[in-house]
Amino acid sequence: MPISPKSLTPPERSPAPIEHLYFHIPFCPKICPYCCFYVEEGSKNKSKAFLDALLSEVSRAAESTHIRPKTIYFGGGTPTALRIEQLEYLIGGLKSRLDLSMLLEWTTEANPATVREEKAALLKQLGVTRVSLGVQSWSDRCLQTLGRTHSAKQALSTYEILQAQDFNALNIDLMFSVPGQTLHEWEADLDTTIQLNPDHVSAYCLTYEEDTDFFKKLTGGQFVQNEEHDAALFESTMDRLSAGGYVQYEISNHARDGAISSHNLAYWEGRDFLGFGPSAFSTVGQVRKQNVSDTATYTIRMQTGASPVHTEETLSNETRLRERIAFGLRMSSGLEINLFAPWKEEAAHLLEIGLLESTGSRLRLTRRGRMLADLVASTFV
Ligand SMILES: C[S@@+](CC[C@H](N)C(=O)[O-])C[C@H]1O[C@@H](n2cnc3c(N)ncnc32)[C@H](O)[C@@H]1O
Ligand code: SF4
Repeated sequence: MPISPKSLTPPERSPAPIEHLYFHIPFCPKICPYCCFYVEEGSKNKSKAFLDALLSEVSRAAESTHIRPKTIYFGGGTPTALRIEQLEYLIGGLKSRLDLSMLLEWTTEANPATVREEKAALLKQLGVTRVSLGVQSWSDRCLQTLGRTHSAKQALSTYEILQAQDFNALNIDLMFSVPGQTLHEWEADLDTTIQLNPDHVSAYCLTYEEDTDFFKKLTGGQFVQNEEHDAALFESTMDRLSAGGYVQYEISNHARDGAISSHNLAYWEGRDFLGFGPSAFSTVGQVRKQNVSDTATYTIRMQTGASPVHTEETLSNETRLRERIAFGLRMSSGLEINLFAPWKEEAAHLLEIGLLESTGSRLRLTRRGRMLADLVASTFV
């Protein structure tokens, strides 16, 4: 007989409510050759059983933890790969299990190939406030190189469909340093984006992640990385988006009129969050857990009353502080100087070589520091 979740560890409520929830929806129309997120192609596991598993993970968590979300984030994968009735079922199920009275922001990631009018209208009607659209590029040549399933024209039409729904905020995700992409092409991508006037733009430098086709092509010499070219594209990103009225509040994130992503800000500020679904991470206090990265296994574990957690570690205060600095420095507001107390010498050196600057009681990356952010972060982690 399956063990009921109630018979697991006796509930012990955490004092402060958890305010940030992440849901990993691991389905994609096609796996992109550069992507390292846990995702699966096709509909085999995109089932009611999976949605029930997600909902029961929420019910279980609510038994032992005080949850009162201010932000909810549907990521993946591609949450909009769920069918309309599946989104309705999932969101309806969450609404009946969670106290959403303090909710400020509900984001979903979306791939342009998976949203038409009816789905966009439903998301709005169900209470989603922010949509993050994975456009990546407005050049069909770059989209083809990236192995995307949509054209630039389709991305534009999806953007217009979303715009018509009047969400609180729309984000466009872009990627630069796509193999073969010139500075001129990237600037055209930025200009087209600015003309469309989204509230938020995320612009990521392509990362060659291990175990991806792109990584194999890089190590096989088919693709070449050029740091100077990457830096030129990044500089142009900062200049063009700033001239277009966007504030770079984090290395890859730019917002107009204060439309920052509260959910992502919570990560960079090192706040507690709960993640649901296969491969999702949670960090509460010193404890970090990651769920099993396999949808079928995750679903079965939830159905049988077993734990979905694959790894669990207790982080030391030092590790938490190191992470806090590495993530916090990504924000243009920087961090309180006293957090650097254990690494005074390192911070002084970074100030001396012009990668950090002081703004009274805080330290933050300089413009050059933003271009070498990973190097700066590696000093602390
Ligand atoms: C988890 S994906 C979800 C969005 C949606 N699945 C899509 O691709 O349209 C979030 C964003 O991460 C970025 N991304 C994914 N893999 C990346 C990589 N290897 N390097 C840089 N950015 C990447 C893309 O801009 C993507 O839109
Ligand atoms: S980039 Fe987006 S659509 Fe492509 S495989 Fe990754 S999560 Fe899926």
